This record gives sequence, structure tokens and C-alpha cells, in this order.
Amino acid sequence: MGPELVEELVEVGGDRFALLRPADPADLLDEAAFAVDEFLPYWAELWPAARSLASVLPDRLEGVRVLELGCGLGLPSLVAARRGAEVVATDWADQALELLATNAARNGVRLARRNLDWTRPPADLVAAPPDLVVAADVAYEQRNVEPLAALLEALGAVTLLADPGRKAGGALLGRLGASFERDDLGGGVSRLRPRGWPPR
Ligand SMILES: C[S@@+](CC[C@H](N)C(=O)[O-])C[C@H]1O[C@@H](n2cnc3c(N)ncnc32)[C@H](O)[C@@H]1O
Repeated sequence: MGPELVEELVEVGGDRFALLRPADPADLLDEAAFAVDEFLPYWAELWPAARSLASVLPDRLEGVRVLELGCGLGLPSLVAARRGAEVVATDWADQALELLATNAARNGVRLARRNLDWTRPPADLVAAPPDLVVAADVAYEQRNVEPLAALLEALGAVTLLADPGRKAGGALLGRLGASFERDDLGGGVSRLRPRGWPPR
């Protein structure tokens, strides 16, 4: 039996979603998973950064290939897909991806999901990068900084990164300064453009 779920109504720029999420993320704590990878069920909450990121997405995204990293409940993915993007939502937590499938179906949204661990990025993804990468509150621990930086550099795409002001978030932006130009979109959201982008 899965965790008890509650429904939350979320509105982003006129797009409305009825999102199911675990009533109490603490119910999902798993000592065995923590022992292997320091895994904590952070996916089970809708973090403020996800709302900030979703709120700066363009109104029209028809045909744009969007990749979300560390999607958790996947609000930016849902908004982007509703606006016409071809979305691949990723996380290392299969439970997050399963619940996102349910939430997408309940809200009439089509998107793809994939298990992706930043420390082991699949070669096919790097070989065919998306048009836009989005990620909310992913640099919440220092150990996340280098794998995320390496992955974002390898993808080399325009990236929207939302961070609530965490120390590791600042470290990630600092680490990416050499390879991306940064625009501050407000609300903790940065738009990163690979230096030399768009290609001539
Ligand atoms: C603080 S939560 C943010 C979730 C969501 N983006 C939001 O803002 O509501 C961090 C997310 O990153 C995921 N995550 C943590 N480490 C990861 C890794 N190494 N690879 C992929 N996802 C990871 C977690 O499962 C979780 O969904």
C-alpha cells in the first residue's frame, strides 16, 4: 500500500492543476535507502522554488523539448507540457515519477518520465540535449553541486534554475559562471545561457 495522499489545487499563470502528494513525507522515510545513497524523500513536497520556476515559464512552448531534473512532484513539467512542450521529467526517485504519471493523467497532460541520477547521466541524453533544462531546488546539499554542474555543462542547453537561497545553490551558480551567462529572473530563478549561445 502506498502513502496516504492529499490533493492540492495549484494555479500557475492561469493554468490550474489538482495535484496529489503524500500527506506526510515522513511516512516515506526508508532507513535502508538512506544507508545506500543518503536518500531522503524530498520529492514528496512541492517546494516553493518549483512554483517560482513554473511561474517564469513562457506562455507558449509548442514543440520545445524540455528536460526537468530532480522533478519531485514536477510542477514545472506539468506547466510546460500543458503549454505544448515535449517534456521529459526526471528524478532518481521512482515513486516521484509514478505519482507524476498519475498527476499528469488526472490533469490531462502528456509527458515522458525517466529515472535519472545526476551522478550517472545516461550517454544518450547528453548526445541529444533538450532545448531547455529546468530544475527547482536541486542544489540543497553541497554534494549535489559538482554532479549537477557537470551534467548541465554536458547538456549545454539554456537552463532555468530556481533556488531558495541555499548555500549549495550559490555554489552551483558560482561553479557554472565560467560556462554560462546568468540572467536573474527574480524569485530566486536564474536563466543560464551557455557562453557563446546562440550559436552563430
Ligand atoms: C528539494 S527536492 C525538489 C523537488 C522539486 N524540484 C520541487 O522543487 O518541488 C530535490 C529533488 O531532487 C531529487 N534528487 C536528489 N538527488 C538526486 C540525484 N542524485 N539524481 C536525481 N534526482 C535527485 C530528489 O528526489 C527530489 O525530488
